[in-house]
Amino acid sequence: MWPDLIRKAKEGGIDTIETYVFWDHHEPRPREYDFSGNLDFIRFFKTVQEAGLYAILRIGPYVCAEWNYGGFPVWLHNMPGIQLRTDNAVYKSEMETFVAKIVSMCQEAKLFGPQGGPIIFAQIENEYGNVMGPYGEAGKSYVKWCAEMAQNFSIGVPWIMCQQADAPQPMINTCNGFYCHNFQPNNPKSPKMWTENWSGGFKNWGGQDPHRTAEDLAYSVALFFQTGGVLMNYYMYHGGTNFGRSSGGPYIATTYDYDAPLDEYGLPSQPKYGHLVQLHAALKSVQKILTSTKPTHQSVGNQVNLTTFLNNATGEKVCFLSNTNVGQDANIDLEQNGKYFVPAWSVSILAGCNKEIYNTAKVNTPTTVMVKVPNRAEKEPAHLSWTWAAEPMSDTLHGHGQFNAMKLLEQKETTLDASDYLWYMTRVDIDDTSSWTNANLFVNTTGHVLHAYVNGELIGSQWGTGTEDAYNFTFIKNVTLQRGTNVISLLSATVGLQNYGSFFDLSPAGIVGGPVKLISNKNDVTMDLSTNQWSYKVGLNGEAEKLMDAGCQLRQSIKWSTDGLPISKPMTWYKTTFQAPLGTEPVVVDLQGMGKGQAWVNGQSIGRYWPAFLAPKDGCNATCDYRGVYSWDNCMTNCGNPTQRWYHVPRSFLRNDKNTLVLFEEMGGNPTQVAFKTVTIGAVCSTAYEGSTLELSCQGGKTLSNIQFASFGDPKGTCQSFSKGSCESATVMSVVQKACTGKEKCSINISEGTLGTSNCANDITRRVAVQAVCEDKTDSILKILRSLSLDFSSNQLLKKISYLWRTF
Ligand code: GAL
Repeated sequence: MWPDLIRKAKEGGIDTIETYVFWDHHEPRPREYDFSGNLDFIRFFKTVQEAGLYAILRIGPYVCAEWNYGGFPVWLHNMPGIQLRTDNAVYKSEMETFVAKIVSMCQEAKLFGPQGGPIIFAQIENEYGNVMGPYGEAGKSYVKWCAEMAQNFSIGVPWIMCQQADAPQPMINTCNGFYCHNFQPNNPKSPKMWTENWSGGFKNWGGQDPHRTAEDLAYSVALFFQTGGVLMNYYMYHGGTNFGRSSGGPYIATTYDYDAPLDEYGLPSQPKYGHLVQLHAALKSVQKILTSTKPTHQSVGNQVNLTTFLNNATGEKVCFLSNTNVGQDANIDLEQNGKYFVPAWSVSILAGCNKEIYNTAKVNTPTTVMVKVPNRAEKEPAHLSWTWAAEPMSDTLHGHGQFNAMKLLEQKETTLDASDYLWYMTRVDIDDTSSWTNANLFVNTTGHVLHAYVNGELIGSQWGTGTEDAYNFTFIKNVTLQRGTNVISLLSATVGLQNYGSFFDLSPAGIVGGPVKLISNKNDVTMDLSTNQWSYKVGLNGEAEKLMDAGCQLRQSIKWSTDGLPISKPMTWYKTTFQAPLGTEPVVVDLQGMGKGQAWVNGQSIGRYWPAFLAPKDGCNATCDYRGVYSWDNCMTNCGNPTQRWYHVPRSFLRNDKNTLVLFEEMGGNPTQVAFKTVTIGAVCSTAYEGSTLELSCQGGKTLSNIQFASFGDPKGTCQSFSKGSCESATVMSVVQKACTGKEKCSINISEGTLGTSNCANDITRRVAVQAVCEDKTDSILKILRSLSLDFSSNQLLKKISYLWRTF
């Protein structure tokens, strides 16, 4: 996907691509490096360069990034004497070794600017300033060491440190956040740079979908350049998917869409992408003046500011007119330089200080509504047909593990994160069953998911709420013990290791220390099992046997069965084959109906899935006001639905012939609803003020069909929730239908002349709002043929038409 994503970024007006480097993936075991395939970061930078773009190398090697363990390999944690991210000799030596490796690879590949390469900055550490307090003096000396170590590499381009107010010179301290116009680097000679402008947000399992409006994002960027900023990077411009077990946590979802300008699948998210294209073009058209002159600022009153960049030598100038007022629009009269309508919470860029070339709140890029449509593979049956295999548990349910300890171990220390799963098993001998009928099993765990079995029976499962700091929990379930030996088998699963905070690396996972107790039915006897002999097994048998990899199952004794497909059965493997959907649109698998687990396509993990985890019902707003300081939860959507229902299957994972999907279902699910879909534009919305032009277009060769909404006056709401305001023209719908229906795109000049009188009160600024369905040409043709009463019962023809449209 890299070349296509980079091309779209370039077309979006981006000129530099910033990326982290992920230590855990590149050095999975000490001094065993992996830079192959998707880990070939040198190739990534070369692709960036081939596209004619610059690059920023963020080595970290702590990266945060909602990435497992913040990018640290878990083996670091087990090194004797190590303390991470502080002045500790063992850690510093490991960090330096890795940084040296990355730097020398870049130097060898001639990737740094002075070598003719694309890299113009490199970053050491990541937002350490935000968490360094608790590390005390050792933290301060660590920052100095980081700076010296990095500087000694003589890479020929500046090093940056983000959110590091005490960044030692010559490190450049940069800003991260939703707004950075008030930021000043600690060295007055450093340029004012913004390494992370959060374009939206990430999702936790059990969380809703965050959105940041195009207006507010553009506002933050324009304000930054108005106040002397010189470099701004979107975090994320494209976030993509956290395949495999790379999501951090705990409980960070597999999608890393981030509401970024290029969505999870690499499609432009509109209007954000298009609105920023125009902003970038406007900024670039004046960038010479911005970077070569000192601005003067003038208050025009009521939180409106005029900033002038004037080149005295040439007389060239550009102005920014910002209205930071949350509620009040402004009409500004700059006399001979013109009159300007500056909506609340917006910035206008005035070329020559007398012509508005951009306003952050005036969005004229249409909004697209993406939909998931059924797989149109040529030979795909309506439902996938499944085989299944139960996870073999005869060892663990009988308490047989790989090694023993007389205590409850910490999970990542024990598994080295080779798997999400760790079995904790112990035995309890009971003579008198009377106290232990309807007794309680009590397990205190640091998370993240627990399944408890007693004598081979699943007695219950539990997990944290998914919100921050809510992954510790206590499991208490009724249990009846038998005379003689009882086996308690606890399966603990991690859902991404902690990636943020002071000493985050020490956050425990699993049943470490417990306690695990049995409490008699009268509450009079408590058996603390925490220091029993515990037997351990890392990972699942199905994982060891490579059941996820259709071509490579190790043990023939595991049989995939076609009989009696189990539904709602925990610890079950499911397998099916499918055809790659036709065309080039992104592919997703709809896992609605499944519980929690992992999914693989042709042996490649497409990540953890958990559609059974629903987002809270409350907290979503029908409309999202762009005005006012944004925070993560301002504009949530998807309330009450699965946090993540659709899982991205990159086309590069697919084969033309037969593909295999394997699911490991941990909680119990129903695979009969699972289906492959493609992501496409379903509808498009557009608004425009009187005097401007309304643009509507369905990308990807689709046509505008049904006009669902059209109003000219003061329509309310946003795309998918438009409603008529206090006034409206009577003819707008027919004008729009005539101009747009059946076309790929259309534009209409907005005036009473074209759209009819709207009878609005004098103080209303009239605008038009339209919503139209985008229809696949195949469907349009079918409609026409059906209207001619041709027989269409045969699916054959439909498939042929669909195939032809999509292929050619
Ligand atoms: C920053 C961090 C990024 C990412 C972001 C939130 O603090 O540097 O790596 O975690 O927050 O998405």
